[in-house]
Amino acid sequence: MGESIYGLKRTHRCGELGPENVGEKVVVMGWAQKRRDLGGVIFVDLRDRSGILQVVFNSAADRQLFEKAETIRNEYVLAIIGEVVKRDPETVNPKIKTGEIEVAARELRILSKAETPPFYIEEDSDVNEIVRLKYRYLDLRRPDMQKNLMLRHRVAKIARDYYDECGFLEIETPMLTKSTPEGAREYLVPSRVQPGKFYVLPQSPQLFKQLLMVSGFDRYFQIVKCFRDEDLRADRQPEFTQLDLEMSFVNVEDVLTVNEGFIKKAFKEALGVELETPFLRLPYQEAMDRFGSDKPDMRFGLELVNLSDLVENCGFKVFSDAVKNGGSVRAINAKGCGRIFSRREIDSLVEFVKIYKAKGMAWIVVEENELKSAITKFFSEDEIKAILDRVQAEPGDLICFVADKNQIVYDALGQLRLELARRLNLLKKDEYKFLWVTEFPLFEYDEEEKRWVAKHHPFTSPMDEDIQYLESDQGKVRAKAYDMVLNGVEIGGGSIRIHIQELQSKIFKLIGFTEEEAWNRFGFLLEAFKYGTPPHGGMAFGFDRLIMLMAGQNSIRDVIAFPKVQNASCPMTNAPDVVGEKQLKELHIKVDV
Ligand code: AMO
Ligand code: AMP
Repeated sequence: MGESIYGLKRTHRCGELGPENVGEKVVVMGWAQKRRDLGGVIFVDLRDRSGILQVVFNSAADRQLFEKAETIRNEYVLAIIGEVVKRDPETVNPKIKTGEIEVAARELRILSKAETPPFYIEEDSDVNEIVRLKYRYLDLRRPDMQKNLMLRHRVAKIARDYYDECGFLEIETPMLTKSTPEGAREYLVPSRVQPGKFYVLPQSPQLFKQLLMVSGFDRYFQIVKCFRDEDLRADRQPEFTQLDLEMSFVNVEDVLTVNEGFIKKAFKEALGVELETPFLRLPYQEAMDRFGSDKPDMRFGLELVNLSDLVENCGFKVFSDAVKNGGSVRAINAKGCGRIFSRREIDSLVEFVKIYKAKGMAWIVVEENELKSAITKFFSEDEIKAILDRVQAEPGDLICFVADKNQIVYDALGQLRLELARRLNLLKKDEYKFLWVTEFPLFEYDEEEKRWVAKHHPFTSPMDEDIQYLESDQGKVRAKAYDMVLNGVEIGGGSIRIHIQELQSKIFKLIGFTEEEAWNRFGFLLEAFKYGTPPHGGMAFGFDRLIMLMAGQNSIRDVIAFPKVQNASCPMTNAPDVVGEKQLKELHIKVDV
C-alpha cells in the first residue's frame, strides 16, 4: 500500500492480517472500535473497511506506551506500529478473519481524536433511521453498510465489464434537459440566462438513448441518475440509479437474453450464486390470472384459481352478481392454514383484503368430515364439490374467496397471497426467483381522465399480431414490453420501440396527444426519426433495487450512500432548504407559499 502519513507507511488493512503474517512488523491505521482494560493489558479493536484487528498494549513491556493507550476512546483514529503475534489459544476468536492473531503494539500515534458518537458503531444496529441518516457518515462506518456499498461497487464493475464485452458503449446523456416520457412528476431547474424557462431533470435517458441509436452507436449503456418527484416508498427514491441500455436491430428475445446474461454473471461473481437461464417468461395476463400481480413472487405457490364459471348462477348473490357484472370470483387455497389459523387470524385476513378495496373475503375451512363456513349454505352440494375440486381442497385447508371487478380481485388476492406467505414464513431471502413478465398491455384505461394512456411509454411498440386491434379494441393490444422481476420486485423494464413514423403518429393520436402536443414535447425525437431509424429496443434496471435484493436488504436506502427520507429531504444536509433573496431574484423567481 502506498499511503504514508507523517512518514509512516501503512502496510496492511486491518482485516487482511492472519496467521501467515506472524512475526512481521506492520503498520496499521483505523478507528478504535473498543478499548478494554484488563489491568496491565489494554486491548483495542482497530477497525477499517476490511475488518477488525485486535491490538495489545502491555504495561510490562512499555509503561509509557501503555499510558498513552489509556487515553484512547471509541472512534479515535490511530496508527499503530507493531508485531503480528499468535493469540493465546483461549483468546482465539473463530468468528472473525483476524481471530487467531493480534498486533503487539510498539508505537501508537493518535491521528485524530473523536467525540463520543451519537450511536455505537456496530453491525445490525437498531438505531432510529432518521438519526442514522443525520449522521450518515458514521452510519456508513458500520460493517453491514460498508458491505452493501462494496457490493454495489462490485456489481457496477461487473456490469461495465459485461456490457463492454457484449459490445455496449457507455455514453453520458444530459441532466439538464426536457421532459422525458415516463410520466412521473418532474423536478424543474430554473434557467438564469433565460428568464421564466426551466430545465427538467431526466426521469430516464429514454429519448437520448433512442437518439444514440439513430446516430448508429448500435449498443449503448449507462449507469445513470434518474429523477422522479414521486411519493417515496421502501423501493422508491426521488433520485435513483438506472443501469440503462438500448440496442439496435434486435427483437424482444435478444434484449432478454443479453440482460439475463448480465444477471447470471453478477450473481455468480458477486454472490457466488449460480442461476439457471433462460429465466421463465410469463405473459402478463397469465401472471395476473395465476398470481394477481404483474410482478409475482415465485418463491412460493398459493396461486389464484378462477371459479367464475362455477358460481355464475349460484344462490350466493355476492358471487353471481360479481360475475354477471363482468367481474370474477377467484380463490386461494391456503394449504394447511385451516389447521393453523385461529378464527381471529382468519378475521384479520378479511380485514387485510379490505385494504385493497375488496368488500369482503368469504372462506371455507375444510375439515375431515365437515366444512366450516358462513357461505356453504348458499350452494348446492354439487356446486360445493365442484369448487373444492377446482381448488384441490384437502382436510386442513383454508379456501379464501374474493368476488369483485377483476382489478380488485387481482389486487386483493395478489396481496393476500403475499400476506399468507409472510405469515407462513415462506419468503427466504437467499432464494432468488427471477422471471420476465412479457406481453404487457400497450394501453391502460385512465378512469379519471376517461381515456387510454400508454402503460409503459408512448414509444413502446405494439405486438405485430395485435396492430389490427389498434383502432377497434385498444384494451386487447399487447406491447413488446417486458419487466424483469425478482422475488416480487420489479427490478427492470423496457420495450422494443416504434421506429415507423406512421405507427408512432397513430399511437399518439390514440392516447389523446394532438400532433402539435407530440411535437412540442418530443419533436426532436420525431424529427430525428425522419433521417433513417434502425429498429431498436432496450431496458433499464433499477440498480438500487437490484443491489437491495442482492444484499438481502428491505429498503433501497440501505444500498444508497446518502438517500432521502419519506418527505424527500436529507436529514444530514437539510436539503431541500430555502435560498437567499438574491439567488431567487437572479432566477426571476417569486416564492408563494
Ligand atoms: P421504468 O420507468 O420502468 O423504465 O424504470 C426502470 C426501472 O427503474 C426502477 N425505478 C426506480 N427505482 C427506485 N426509485 C424510483 N423512484 C424508481 N422508478 C423506477 C425500477 C424500474 O423497473 N426508460 C424506461 C426504460 C426503457 O424503456 O428502456 C424506464 O425508465 O426498477
Ligand atoms: P354477507 O352476506 O355480506 O354477510 O357476507 C357473507 C360472507 O361473504 C362474509 O364472510 C363476507 O366477508 C363475504 N363477502 C362479502 N363480500 C364479498 C366479496 N365481494 N367477495 C368475497 N367475499 C365476500
